Amino acid sequence: MLTSIPELPLSGRTAIVTAAGAGIGRAIALEWAAQGGIVVAADLHADSAEATARSIRQARGESVWATVDVTAPDAMSQAVAAALDSYGRVDALFNVAGASLPRRVDEMDDTDWYRMIDINLTSVYRCSKAVIPELRRAGGGSIVNVSSTAGLLAENRCAAYSAAKGGVLLLTKNMAMDYAADSIRVNAICPGSTMTPRIREYLDRVPGHDSMIDGLCPMKRFAEPAEIARPAVFLASDAASYITGAVLAVDGGLTAGKHFAIFEDA
Ligand SMILES: NC(=O)c1ccc[n+]([C@@H]2O[C@H](COP(=O)([O-])OP(=O)(O)OC[C@H]3O[C@@H](n4cnc5c(N)ncnc54)[C@H](O)[C@@H]3O)[C@@H](O)[C@H]2O)c1
Repeated sequence: MLTSIPELPLSGRTAIVTAAGAGIGRAIALEWAAQGGIVVAADLHADSAEATARSIRQARGESVWATVDVTAPDAMSQAVAAALDSYGRVDALFNVAGASLPRRVDEMDDTDWYRMIDINLTSVYRCSKAVIPELRRAGGGSIVNVSSTAGLLAENRCAAYSAAKGGVLLLTKNMAMDYAADSIRVNAICPGSTMTPRIREYLDRVPGHDSMIDGLCPMKRFAEPAEIARPAVFLASDAASYITGAVLAVDGGLTAGKHFAIFEDA
């Protein structure tokens, strides 16, 4: 007897994912596709964007790729064109691209400051602005902004990064209010320390640093990128249909409270 294959929850939904070439962005792209969604993998580096799209297609998913520099004035033009040319619509945007800079205020010049604000905060404004008309045209949709635990709690020597990631959270809430009437939901996630290739490379270079996570995070481990991707995709899915303006910490308890090792033996 023939049985029909149940439709996956995101079948036919097209998402643009920035920074899809590596780390958290790549994991979000793979998770969206695993749930049946179509992915426009957008990255500064064409080869890594293409590699993500290829991985999705090899797993029988649907994906195209685009070169996107989220700091460029027309950052999203290629990605939006790729989505419309191939699939005729955009249903979701994941603003993932960002970068950090370990500098105190007196260690930065204006160029450093504006670069951090641009890549982490202005990029969310810029990419969202380009995609909102398409979400409206599709009858609604979802934006998920990737902030950081550094946007919830100050992180030493990350002045501009923390300021920008904190800004992303209020921008998220503002957009949630402004576009609810268009059925566009806007949410943010705040990942804790996540074992992306960039972090792995850093830990290999600075021996001993990986054990610092034990003192910082109650779960005493880094997140895997897929553990950030699953809640990000949940926020963009219909399972989160009444969630907008929310900030979800995905951090193994890192921001749950102060961690006083001193009381552990008392
Ligand atoms: N990894 C972590 O521990 C962690 C923790 C909290 C928040 N975050 C945030 O998550 C996001 C992703 O971090 P990650 O560590 O997975 O990324 P990453 O730094 O490893 O970079 C991932 C991808 O971003 C692309 N990229 C860099 N600049 C770009 C630009 N201007 N335009 C488009 N793409 C660009 C790179 O080519 C790369 O493929 C960032 O916003 C970061 O601040 C990461």
